[in-house]
Amino acid sequence: MFQAVLFDLDGVITDTAEYHFLAWEKLAQEIGIKIDREFNENLKGVSREESLRRILEHGGKENDYTAEEFAAMAKLKNDNYVEMIQAVSPKDIYPGILQLLQDLRGQGIKIALASASKNGPFLLDQMQLTDYFDAIADPAKVAASKPAPDIFIAAAEGVGVDVSQAIGIEDAYSGIAAIKAAKVLPIGVGKAEVLGTDIALVSDTSQLTLDFLTKVWENK
Ligand code: BG6
Ligand code: MG
Repeated sequence: MFQAVLFDLDGVITDTAEYHFLAWEKLAQEIGIKIDREFNENLKGVSREESLRRILEHGGKENDYTAEEFAAMAKLKNDNYVEMIQAVSPKDIYPGILQLLQDLRGQGIKIALASASKNGPFLLDQMQLTDYFDAIADPAKVAASKPAPDIFIAAAEGVGVDVSQAIGIEDAYSGIAAIKAAKVLPIGVGKAEVLGTDIALVSDTSQLTLDFLTKVWENK
């Protein structure tokens, strides 16, 4: 039986992936770059700075800004995003997630957060989920962000479980790549076109039951 579950946050625990998109779309619009939901798949799971770099490149403006201007744009996006998430509450927890956390707890399986977001701890507090988490990996302290394995390795270390005994849950292409690179067993939330056909997938978080995780683990 697996000993830990390492959770992504945005798009897995709650719908904040949508807020990230809306905040980037606004920032991009202000500097004359159009981004759509298809392009946004390249931003999911990716750090704030790397997301901005990809947006500027997408708009052919990667050489147009100084480091100070770049930092100011990243801050502007975050200020806007932080404003959007003030109203997040327990009612925003995705279907099935609270039950899964309770069931994992009941089985003594460790729970860790492996989110790239520096807003992760705030969001867990807003949803009153902090107490379920045995560890929160700090994205500011890992050397490389997703698709590098670092944040999942840090999350497993945080709960004292070997990566070979953990399941990772992600909604982003870069996140699944990070889980695989960490040698953790992946479960994707989303579509095979985006996340791949070689991993266990659910289309909806309500399918993320302890029973489903156990079956995926037994069939690996
Ligand atoms: C990830 C999101 O979880 O966190 C990305 O999927 C986001 O969209 C990244 O860019 C960093 O988040 P933040 O809140 O630190 O800007
Ligand atoms: Mg995500």
